[in-house]
Amino acid sequence: MSDPREILITSALPYANGPIHIGHLVEYIQTDIWARFQRMRGERCWYVCADDAHGTPIMLKARQEGIAPEDLIARVAAEHQADFADFRVAFDNYHSTHSDENRHYACLIYARNRDAGHIARRTITQAYDPVEQMFLPDRFIKGECPKCGAPDQYGDNCEACGASYSPSELKNPRSAVSGAVPEQRESDHFFFKLADFDDMLHAWTRGGSLQKEVANKLGEWFESGLQEWDISRDAPYFGFEIPDHPGKFFYVWLDAPIGYMASFQNLCDSPRGQAAGLDFDRFWAPDSKAELYHFIGKDIIYFHALFWPAMLFGAGFRVPSAVFAHGFLTVDGAKMSKSRGTFIKARTYLDHLNPEYLRYYFAAKLGSGVDDLDLNLEDFQARVNADLVGKVVNIASRSAGFITKRFDGRLCAALPDPVLFAQFVVAGDSIADAYERREYSRAVREIMAMADRANQYIDEQAPWVVAKQPGREAELQDICTMGLNLFRLLIGWLRPILPGTAEA
Ligand code: MSP
Ligand code: ZN
Repeated sequence: MSDPREILITSALPYANGPIHIGHLVEYIQTDIWARFQRMRGERCWYVCADDAHGTPIMLKARQEGIAPEDLIARVAAEHQADFADFRVAFDNYHSTHSDENRHYACLIYARNRDAGHIARRTITQAYDPVEQMFLPDRFIKGECPKCGAPDQYGDNCEACGASYSPSELKNPRSAVSGAVPEQRESDHFFFKLADFDDMLHAWTRGGSLQKEVANKLGEWFESGLQEWDISRDAPYFGFEIPDHPGKFFYVWLDAPIGYMASFQNLCDSPRGQAAGLDFDRFWAPDSKAELYHFIGKDIIYFHALFWPAMLFGAGFRVPSAVFAHGFLTVDGAKMSKSRGTFIKARTYLDHLNPEYLRYYFAAKLGSGVDDLDLNLEDFQARVNADLVGKVVNIASRSAGFITKRFDGRLCAALPDPVLFAQFVVAGDSIADAYERREYSRAVREIMAMADRANQYIDEQAPWVVAKQPGREAELQDICTMGLNLFRLLIGWLRPILPGTAEA
C-alpha cells in the first residue's frame, strides 16, 4: 500500500448577503461527493469553506436592515451552515473571511507582493455619491439605457435590449443608494500587476491544472493581455483596512480566496486539526507534496485561474494543483427566476423534499466539464422514483424481509453465486475511476447498470415463489443472502452521493 494522499479541497465561499439556493448546491454537493469519495479510499482529505463576508453589497444590506455588518454576517453564517448540514455537505471546517486568520494572510500576501514590486499605485476617476459620501460600484448606478432608453437599468448592461456599455454612458444616472446624481471624483487605488506573472501563469495553465475548455478560455485572455487588477476600495467599506493606508480597504475579491487559507489555518489550530497533526506549511509551502483543489463555478474562473495563483506565487506560497470549474444550474431549461418561482432556496427545498434526492439528481447529471445542467422537475421525480426507490432500495426490501422473518436475521455462510459477486467487485474499479475524474454521471450510470443486474438476479430466483414452497428454506436464504450482499456493494458505491441513505 502506498502512503495516503494529503488533499485539501475547497468550494467557493458563498456571499454572506443572501441565502443558499439550489444553484449553489450544485457546487457544494459536487465537492462533498469528491471529499467523501477520497475519505472512503483512505486518503487524508480535508474539505474547508467559509462565508465571503466583505464588500459593498453586504455593507449596504446591513445598513438597510439597521444592523451592524458583523451582526448580519453572523446571522447569515448560521443560516448557511444549517442549510449545508441538512444537505449533508460535511465540511471539515467552515470559517469566515471576516476573521483574524484572514486578516493575517491578506496582509501578509499583500505585503510580500508589494515588497517584490507587484503592487502599483494610480489615481482613477470613479462615480461618487455626494449624499452617501461613497464611491459607487457599477451595479449601484442606475439610469436609462443609452441604446433603447429603457429606464431603471443597472450598471453596465440593459436587461431590456441586452446592450452593454460603461456606466458613464447611462442617461440620467442616479445612485441606487441615495438617488443622488453621481459625480466623478478622483481617488488613489492600488493595483496588482498581473502581467508580472505572465510566464508563470502560462506554464501553470498549460500544466494540466485546468480543464480543456477553461485552458482555452484562458488562452483568449492571455492574448488580449493581462490587465492590472484594482485591489483597493475607499471607505466606507466593510473589509480589511490596508496596512499603512488608512481609509483604503482590500477589495473583497482580494481577501476572498485567501479565506481558503484562513479556514485551513483555523482547522489546523482546532483540537481536531491538532489531533490529526495538521500543519499549515505542509499544505501551503512552495514545495508542498499535498494536493490543493478548488471547486468553483465557471463565472469565477478569472479570479481562480489567474489572480489567485499569481497572488500566491508572488507571496512565496504554493499554487493550486488544479481548479475544477462547473457549469450553471438552470431550472426547466431557464435561468432560475424569482418571478417564475424557480429560484429555489435550499431551505425551501428542505421544507418539502429529501436532500438525498437532489444529491442523487445532481450526481446523475454532473460531468467533469463546464456544461450547464438542468433541473427538469418531471425528470427529477421520474429518476428518483425509478432509480432510487425502484432499483436500489427495492433490492434490499425484496431480500431483507425474508432474512428477518424466516432466518432470525442471519445470512448463510457462503455466497451461492460467487461469479456474479466477483463481477460486481470488478465493476467497482471503473466506478471509483469515474468518481476520481469527477465523472459522476458515469459513476451513477455504471452503478445503476449493476443495480439492474442485481434486480435481474432476484427476478430470476423469485424468492417470493421459493418462500411458498416447502423444503426450499436453504435456497431462500441463499438467494436473499446474495441479494443483500449485492445491495451492500451498490450502497457502498453510492455512499459519497447518498450518505444518509447509506447510513439508514
Ligand atoms: N463569493 C464569491 C466566491 C468567492 S471564492 C473565493 C461568489 N459567491 S456566490 O455566492 O455568488 O457563489 C458561490 C459559488 O456558487 C460560485 O462558485 C458560483 O459559481 C456558484 N453558483 C452560484 N449560482 C450558481 C448556479 N445557478 N449554478 C451553479 N453554480 C452556481 O461567487
Ligand atoms: Zn436597452
